Amino acid sequence: MSNTKGSSLIRVGVVVTLAGVISVSLVLFWFSSSNNCPTPFFKPDQYSQINSAESNNSLPDKVEEKPILLLWVWPQDYRFDFSDCKKFYNIDSCQLTDDRSLYNNADNVIVYHRDIRWDLSNLPPSPRPPFQRWLWLHLESPTNTQRIPGLENLFNLTLNYRQDADIPVRLRLTTTKKPNEDFVIPKKDKLVCWIVSNNDPSTGTGTRHSFYQELSKYIQVTLYGKAFSRFLDYNDYYPTMASCKFYLSFENSIHKDYITEKINGPFVAGTVPVVLGPPRRNYENFVPADSFIHVNDFPDIKSLAEYLLHLDKDEDAYRKYFNWRKHLTPTPHLILQTQEFVLAICTACDYVARHREYKEVHDLYDWYFN
Ligand SMILES: *[C@@H]1O[C@H](CO)[C@@H](O)[C@H](O)[C@H]1NC(C)=O
Ligand SMILES: *[C@@H]1O[C@H](CO)[C@@H](O)[C@H](O)[C@H]1NC(C)=O
Repeated sequence: MSNTKGSSLIRVGVVVTLAGVISVSLVLFWFSSSNNCPTPFFKPDQYSQINSAESNNSLPDKVEEKPILLLWVWPQDYRFDFSDCKKFYNIDSCQLTDDRSLYNNADNVIVYHRDIRWDLSNLPPSPRPPFQRWLWLHLESPTNTQRIPGLENLFNLTLNYRQDADIPVRLRLTTTKKPNEDFVIPKKDKLVCWIVSNNDPSTGTGTRHSFYQELSKYIQVTLYGKAFSRFLDYNDYYPTMASCKFYLSFENSIHKDYITEKINGPFVAGTVPVVLGPPRRNYENFVPADSFIHVNDFPDIKSLAEYLLHLDKDEDAYRKYFNWRKHLTPTPHLILQTQEFVLAICTACDYVARHREYKEVHDLYDWYFN
């Protein structure tokens, strides 16, 4: 027992001594630090500033800055992976979604014209959030556009092939400073080719079809596509085009700026496009004058055919149609039918991240049809 008592006394002594040493050290530390640093502790207001600076830099705040772009319906039900915008065009600046539950938080909503019901019952709900902009997506020419009543003053931005749309949709040739010397004209085993999927006269194709019929009296035209029951697999699209000296880039209807992928295909493949569409000057807003042959360059169809037959014999004259490639590069367009709207939707994504301005579209049809 006494042994236990004695050892507990020793323990008390050790504890008291230790406590004393710690107290003295603390006092010494207090003095030395207050001597060296005039303000050893943060004042409360400084501390909260640091906290808020940290939270301003935190990741969730930054992610929220990407505007939400809600695709209200999938155009013609052609679905694709939203990550394609990054994959094909390196566009990743908005939050693309088709999740309607995000509607009240969506900065922008894309509405596809051809899928709007005539009673407007499938439009997004009203009232819309005050910050939200609606984008009118439409890629058909006025000939193939229905005037659905009630849309005239509903939208904020137009998304269309027209150059004066708020968001113009078009693949452009890109300039290259260093001359591109390695382009070789692909081997040709056909003269004139034409791929046509739509031959329905109600869509305005009558003009181009009678032009083709007249042309084919003077020169051989090789036909492909659904319209001629010679379906071309998409893997064969560019190689087939490449094997032809000329390609008929005939638009289905003739309107300002309505210059579609029909001219981009031959550019990418290494073929000379023969264009039927808006006037030459309009083409020259987008592509060089010496990169294509315009049907209006000739007094009649027979003269056009004669010129093509002449170029077939004159290698040097034919080669001149490729001079532009030295400093300009075409971008292949996506050729699957389900990819028809990828470029437009990605272009919108890029636009809304860079433009947040207020905007209203008045008299939509007045603009589109006149
Ligand atoms: C952090 O954000 C708040 C409000 O968003 C702002 O008042 C504050 O000045 C910001 N702080 C810094 C350090 O940027
Ligand atoms: C969008 O357009 C509508 C209809 O003109 C207008 O009421 C609304 O204020 C516009 N909103 C924005 C954010 O531009």
